[in-house]
Amino acid sequence: MTLRLDGRLIGLGVTGSVAAYKAVELLRLLRAEGADVVVMLTPAAGQFVGQLSFAALSRHPVETSVMDLLPDGRIGHIVVADSADALVVAPATAHWLGAMSHGLSGDAVTAACLATAAPVVVAPAMDGDMWTHPATQDNVARLRERFGYTIVEPELGPLASGQSGVGRLAELASIVDAVVDAVASRPIRAPDPAMRPPRSDTPPRDADLEGRRVVVTAGGTREAIDPVRFIGNRSTGKMGAAIATAALDRGAAVTLVAANMDVSPPTGAQLVRVASTAELRDALIALESSGESGYDVLVMAAAVADFRPLRAADQKLARDGPLILELEPTPDVLAELAGRARDRAAAGSARRPILVGFAAETGALDRAADKLRRKGVDFLVANDVMEPGAGFGTDTNRVAILAADGSRQDLPMLSKRDVADRLLDRVVAALDARRDEAQTSRS
Ligand SMILES: Cc1cc2nc3c(=O)[nH]c(=O)nc-3n(C[C@H](O)[C@H](O)[C@H](O)COP(=O)(O)O)c2cc1C
Repeated sequence: MTLRLDGRLIGLGVTGSVAAYKAVELLRLLRAEGADVVVMLTPAAGQFVGQLSFAALSRHPVETSVMDLLPDGRIGHIVVADSADALVVAPATAHWLGAMSHGLSGDAVTAACLATAAPVVVAPAMDGDMWTHPATQDNVARLRERFGYTIVEPELGPLASGQSGVGRLAELASIVDAVVDAVASRPIRAPDPAMRPPRSDTPPRDADLEGRRVVVTAGGTREAIDPVRFIGNRSTGKMGAAIATAALDRGAAVTLVAANMDVSPPTGAQLVRVASTAELRDALIALESSGESGYDVLVMAAAVADFRPLRAADQKLARDGPLILELEPTPDVLAELAGRARDRAAAGSARRPILVGFAAETGALDRAADKLRRKGVDFLVANDVMEPGAGFGTDTNRVAILAADGSRQDLPMLSKRDVADRLLDRVVAALDARRDEAQTSRS
């Protein structure tokens, strides 16, 4: 099933209607569509429903006042306004519609709507006579026509007063559909979690890599031209560091093979520093036979040089005329390790690890499937490093995960940490499948 709000941040504004309790379920439905949701309450809404359910289900602190500052000093409603992909106000009271149509930003919900460039969806709920009053109708018309808001009109049904009329909050599924339509195919506004409202916790993950040994390579290799110069690449090691951190958080014993990283390696990982492709290869081969049975997972996130100078000069090269460097291809470390892993498993000397390669492409990712086959790995994570927000040095990445079974999973633009967790979800599933396979073949 595709999640229609995958990776999106939705600001949910709740106002002082008797239907405010339904907003808890709306939050759950938005989360079920893959959205990250942050809730804002008007003071009146806070009299109908408590913050606890919203905070627990959204995993964000709830904004209850326009005066709220975040712990880091940012202004709460502005952060929502700037980072949300859509705001949805449900239920919206007659009072709130009036305040909004006149730009009176006395509560966090109105203030966020005033400050945002994101689409706004409004689902009013009130007594039938309040709804048909010209004041309300004028306010709704202004929100729709002047501000471009989507109005999910209230429906006919029994009301809190005991009477029946048009005023009941629309079906929650229609409100979710309206949010999906409003967001459509716009790019994600703030894929970097640091730009979003803070989370009240890191979502609890099962320690699903406990007892597993995970080796991650990160950074970029350097190939010596002479004692002071090298051929390198722009990799900073952020993606590899994010994978190592995610694996540690999920209970794995992690070894980070770090090639000239610009970022700090995570604490808790065993660190092996390497400089060149040859050193990286040697380090990985040594790790194959370390411990009881090598490693369970190898993620090759480092950017490994494809070419190196045929000969590195012993002395610093002098600038006396043009210099022509002759380059030779470096060994294909990933393909070699994949071959060795297959051989060792066939010989029964070790269980076969899950191998993950990364492919930095410029432009279409068509070559990636071929690369996966040639390398003989279980997963290949391909990204277009030319795309803004993806690739070297950024905090975000948009990748496709190709699997040996021929499938391809295109992820939206996500933080590198989220990419890491999505990838590890696949790795854990593959480890489980391999374990089940081994058990079946023994029984
Ligand atoms: C029991 C009860 C139920 C209410 N339900 C609604 C309602 O469904 N819609 C509405 O517009 N106002 C309703 N009100 C009135 C609002 O709570 C009131 O206008 C309040 O000032 C709204 O503030 P807000 O728009 O800042 O949230 C209700 C009031 C009470 C006491």
